[in-house]
Amino acid sequence: MTTHARGFLGSAALMVVALAALGGCRGTRSEDPPVHLQQNMDFQERGDAQEFNGFFADGRVMRKPPEGTVAVGLLKDDDHLYRGRNLDGTLADALPPAIKLDDKLLTRGEARYNIYCAPCHGQVGRGDGQATRRGGGMMPQPANLHLARLRPEPLGYFFNVISNGKGKMRSYKAQIPVEDRWAISAWVRTLQVSHDAKPGDAAAPAAAPSAPTAAPGAAPGPTPSAPKGATP
Ligand code: HEC
Repeated sequence: MTTHARGFLGSAALMVVALAALGGCRGTRSEDPPVHLQQNMDFQERGDAQEFNGFFADGRVMRKPPEGTVAVGLLKDDDHLYRGRNLDGTLADALPPAIKLDDKLLTRGEARYNIYCAPCHGQVGRGDGQATRRGGGMMPQPANLHLARLRPEPLGYFFNVISNGKGKMRSYKAQIPVEDRWAISAWVRTLQVSHDAKPGDAAAPAAAPSAPTAAPGAAPGPTPSAPKGATP
C-alpha cells in the first residue's frame, strides 16, 4: 500500500468515528451550559451600580474618587470669576476679565435681579419688595442696597452675598450661574449709582457728543436728556 493510500484510509476512518460520535449526540438534552472552549475574559467578577462588594472595607462597589479629583472642564481655579476675590484674597472691585460691561450684561443683570432679588429687596433695591408687604413683613428686613454701609462695598462683595448668602439671606449659588451673579452685581451697582445721582450726572455725558452738531449761535434750549418732570 502506498503512503498516499494509507493517509486516505486514515482520514476516512477518522471521519467515520467523528460522524458516529456526532450521531450519538442527537436527541440528547443537557441542562449544562454549552462547552466554552475559548474562554478569553468572557467570565469574570463584575460590580453593578449600588451593589455590595465584600472586596472593599466599606462594602460599596461604587468607589469615591480620590480626594481633590476634579472632573474635566470643571476646574474652577479663577478666584476672581468664581469667588469674586483677588489673588491676595481681598474682594475684587471689578468685573472679571471674561465678563464685559455692556448693555447686554446690564439688561441681563436687571432681568435676573427682578426675578431673584426684587421680590425681597424691591425693584430699585430699597429692601421693600413684594414679599416684605405680606403677612407682617420679614424679619430681619431685606437690606436696603442704598445704605451708606453697602454703597462703597466692592463689586465682589455683592457677588459673594449672592453666592454664599449673608446673615438670614440664603445662598443663590445653586440657582444663579456665575455669569448671571456678576450681571446682577453690576445691576446692583447701577441701582446704587443711579440712586445717588446728582442733577449734573445725567446731562454731562449727553451734552458732550451733541455739542459739535449744534449750529453756532443756536438758541440754548432745554437739555434733551433732562429727566421728564424734573424741575430745576
Ligand atoms: C427671600 C428674600 C431675599 C431674596 C430673594 C434676596 N435677599 Fe438679599 N437679603 C435678604 C435679607 C432678609 C437680608 C438681611 C440678612 C440679615 O441681615 O441677616 C438680605 C441682605 C442682603 C444684602 C446685604 C448684606 C449685608 O452686608 O448686610 C445684600 C447685598 C443682598 N441681600 C443682596 C441680594 C441680591 C443681589 C439678591 C438677588 C440675587 C438677594 N439679595 C436676594 C433677603 C433676600
